[in-house]
Amino acid sequence: MEQCAQQVIALCRKLAGFTEEPGHITRTFLSPPMHQVHAELRSRMERLGMAVFTDAAGNLRGYYPAKSSSSLRLIMGSHLDTVPRAGAFDGVLGVVLGIALVEALQGKRLSLGLEIIGFSEEEGVRFAFPFIGSRALAGTLDAPALERRGPDGLSIADAIRAFGLDPAHLPAAKLAEETVGYLEFHIEQGPVLEGLNYPLGIVEHIVGQSRASICFIGKAGHAGTTPMKLRHDALAAAAQWITLVEAEAHKVPGLVATVGCLEIEPNATNVIAGSVRASLDVRHARDQLRHRAVDRLLDVAKQLANDRGLSIEWTQHLDQPATAMNPAITKKLSDAVMAAGYPVHPMVSGAGHDAMILAEQVPTAMLFLRSPGGISHHPDETVLATDVAAALTSGMNFLNAIGETR
Ligand code: GLV
Ligand code: MN
Ligand code: MN
Repeated sequence: MEQCAQQVIALCRKLAGFTEEPGHITRTFLSPPMHQVHAELRSRMERLGMAVFTDAAGNLRGYYPAKSSSSLRLIMGSHLDTVPRAGAFDGVLGVVLGIALVEALQGKRLSLGLEIIGFSEEEGVRFAFPFIGSRALAGTLDAPALERRGPDGLSIADAIRAFGLDPAHLPAAKLAEETVGYLEFHIEQGPVLEGLNYPLGIVEHIVGQSRASICFIGKAGHAGTTPMKLRHDALAAAAQWITLVEAEAHKVPGLVATVGCLEIEPNATNVIAGSVRASLDVRHARDQLRHRAVDRLLDVAKQLANDRGLSIEWTQHLDQPATAMNPAITKKLSDAVMAAGYPVHPMVSGAGHDAMILAEQVPTAMLFLRSPGGISHHPDETVLATDVAAALTSGMNFLNAIGETR
């Protein structure tokens, strides 16, 4: 498996070269380099005898049939989009590992088919709306979602058309009824497995996420002539609120809260900021505590705006509940890891995954691979070949068990 693991890593690094920004790894929903990623993965899957197509949400899907005429299938996959200036493994690794497992079968057919999916979007970068790809499988990419617009003025439906696809065909993207489960391999993106010196982790729960944007609206003015007392400085208000967001997360055990993006108008050195739009990302394993934190952050923003003579606009983009993986299929995955000779370590995922959306539809399990340095959403993100080999051996055990017991 060691050689196969090296090939998996090499392919992830090759796909990282298909980017919107030369010198960086940036590939948002259905951006032009996604065509190159599809072409590369499509040809690899076709060489393995898989039937490949791109659905109307831009998900790349390859099907490896069962040995009998059974149309039962297991899905394996993850996402092909990235955050801006990403690493080479977040998402992509799960797709490439799925294809590598089909290759490792060396033509052997199981009693169920395997569908490998490279989801078109999970990160929520282009439209501030994550899971576009997996939502299409769940049938929840509805008309209002398709009309959401990004900063370039295009809607999700426009982006689908610009990629050469037709949103009218979205109903056909839905998960096949014969799907028995979903398995996602993913890097941990945190320091837990490295701290324990374990190669793999079994995800039991994924934390819930809220995403919102808040716009502080003040009044632009001359930075030299407007007395401090007369200002309605939107950036000063936003800065104060951001420190309160951080303080809130420190106060509540297990809560993480992030402001990662600011848009400042007019964004000039000698002009008082007239408006500032800030993103907000809040996560906790308990939805009630997450909701309470978001409510408090909105209240403090209102208070702060009031004190400074500003107004605010608040838009909630996401309220994704915490999600449990399916115990029965997760037990099969744990058994497969144990049979491969690796420790079984149950974990909570602080990152969101396509598995959150698929878990609402079919029994879902997730396997984490150690992240060296705990680093992710950063170009230094990497993975160890020995851990990829561990995932492949465990994955093979899992396929043999699930593919023979049906
Ligand atoms: C996806 O990477 C997330 O933000 O959790
Ligand atoms: Mn990510
Ligand atoms: Mn990811």
